[in-house]
Amino acid sequence: MGKYTPEVEVGLDRMREMARGNYDLGWMNSNPEGWGHQATAGNTGLGMRDIETGHYGEVPDQGSSRGSMAPRGCHIPEDTPPALSMYTLNEKSEVWAENAATLYDEAVVRQWNSTTDIPWDKLEKLPDDIEKAVCQMCTGLSEVEFVAGDMPAKWMCRINHDFHEIKLFLATQIMDEARHLDVFRKRALANGGGLLMASPGQEELLAAILEAPDYTTASSLMHIFGEGFVLTLFRQGEFLAPTEVEKRIFRLCMQDEARHVAYGVKHLKYFLERHPDREEQVHSILDVGEQAIFKLTLEPQTSEPRAILAGGGVENIGLGAARMAFIYEKQVKEYLNRLKVAGLDRESRLTIPKEIPFDDIAA
Ligand SMILES: [Fe+2]
Ligand SMILES: [Fe+2]
Repeated sequence: MGKYTPEVEVGLDRMREMARGNYDLGWMNSNPEGWGHQATAGNTGLGMRDIETGHYGEVPDQGSSRGSMAPRGCHIPEDTPPALSMYTLNEKSEVWAENAATLYDEAVVRQWNSTTDIPWDKLEKLPDDIEKAVCQMCTGLSEVEFVAGDMPAKWMCRINHDFHEIKLFLATQIMDEARHLDVFRKRALANGGGLLMASPGQEELLAAILEAPDYTTASSLMHIFGEGFVLTLFRQGEFLAPTEVEKRIFRLCMQDEARHVAYGVKHLKYFLERHPDREEQVHSILDVGEQAIFKLTLEPQTSEPRAILAGGGVENIGLGAARMAFIYEKQVKEYLNRLKVAGLDRESRLTIPKEIPFDDIAA
């Protein structure tokens, strides 16, 4: 028996051949359609959408069944093994959104960090009720951010590599959500307060997102419904921000959330155009989401801190509740609009009120 395994011996033979000057070089001419490709940088630099043109911009409706890891547009040799069974999302319509490459380009240049981009030196001692309300709100937001990262992480590794725009976009979302978790936790711990109470009500909605039966229903529930509600809330951030610190946090998170929602809307549109028969499934998961989020209005640790912040103190909690009712109306309205853009008419199916009778709440 030789010193090495047969595999190593074969490799050594090949190296001996190369030492004698016998090279293959077949790879040099392996992909004639893909050679000579030109790319022109856009205004903001060389983006993904600038290189994905011609041969490389052809995205198949069915992802490759060979070479799980082969980059789209290369030559895949005959003896490449079949795609691994872990890649279950092989149909373009199951994940695709026309804006994914653009959103990825935007995400990579707009990354920020909670260490140096937040003016922490502007934190000031706040009245107890305000600090407690900020800390409770940040406890709840940290809780949802965990799931907003876990959902794309759960599906990303199942997506066929031919749809790399989607995988890369989801990777930026995972990083975005990690940063959100980090910044809300940091705010809660940075000003003499700390974390307060978790939200059993929120867990129900979050579980529905993680346990959704397929990617598109999970995406509809999270990207359009959940993150849409959060985006509308962050847009009203000045109501909820007692100092420059929270204002900046909301503004930066809002940019990120806008991308996540934009992807979700375009994905659902792309999907429903090709699978109109699956509309009912999307409606059903939104039924669950709406019921779960409405239950949160009953949860003091979710609704009260926002009302205290929106009112400017516990003595004005009634005014704050009225302001939050106004924001709720906006949340529902924008949610219905986003679904409409995606091609789903939810007006007649909505299972929660469009308005909260805030005069009663404020009284
Ligand atoms: Fe987030
Ligand atoms: Fe998000």
